[in-house]
Amino acid sequence: MKKVLVVNSNPKPESMSYGLRLASHYVNEIKANADVAVTTVNLYEEHIPLIDGEVLDAWGKAAQGADLSQGQQAVLGRMNEILEQFLAADMVVFVSAMWNLSYPPLLKAYIDNVVIAGRTFRYTAEGPQGLVGDKKVVHIEARGGDYSQAPGFQFANNYLQAVMGFIGITEYENVVVEGMNATPDKAEELLEAAKVRATESVKRHFSLV
Ligand SMILES: Cc1cc2nc3c(=O)[nH]c(=O)nc-3n(C[C@H](O)[C@H](O)[C@H](O)COP(=O)(O)O)c2cc1C
Repeated sequence: MKKVLVVNSNPKPESMSYGLRLASHYVNEIKANADVAVTTVNLYEEHIPLIDGEVLDAWGKAAQGADLSQGQQAVLGRMNEILEQFLAADMVVFVSAMWNLSYPPLLKAYIDNVVIAGRTFRYTAEGPQGLVGDKKVVHIEARGGDYSQAPGFQFANNYLQAVMGFIGITEYENVVVEGMNATPDKAEELLEAAKVRATESVKRHFSLV
């Protein structure tokens, strides 16, 4: 049975969120096409450590084999738990909303828990090398405006794709629902069209699984 991990960076209830409604459709389509176990991490409900002074100090101490405080052991333990869950998944579905041209900040915090030197990438004489392979990543993104003709404003997705590539994940797809704030009367229509693209994406991926 394949493992699907949904990483939800939107704190809204699903009924209020186009991205979460699209993500639900995506996950239901996966379930209809494949034997999968789906786990969801709600980043605004769970403890997602930030890289702060304590964490940097703990990493420094750990590298030298020095003792960590109890708090530092706990925070590195939690970070490791998040990383192991990410590594165990065959597919990761990121769900984000465009907030101020980017994604919600806890998504960056999550990325900082899984992009870890020595675990998901390493530096070699030839440059950095990704250590995570064989994993599909899908980014379901809701954007109030329509940025489809403005590639310069798609950097939230471009960053996520780049950082996943950096750790070795090349099978990446972006499924977008956008323009709902720009044309509110068409919002449901835009979501329905995005659901069709989502279904196509699932079929592409799960003919490969
Ligand atoms: C804090 C905040 C910032 C936002 N910034 C942008 C923005 O920069 N550009 C944009 O097109 N829409 C912006 N929006 C609108 C959202 O992208 C839009 O409501 C989208 O549907 C959110 O996804 P959701 O429906 O899944 O919650 C913003 C919304 C919020 C709450």
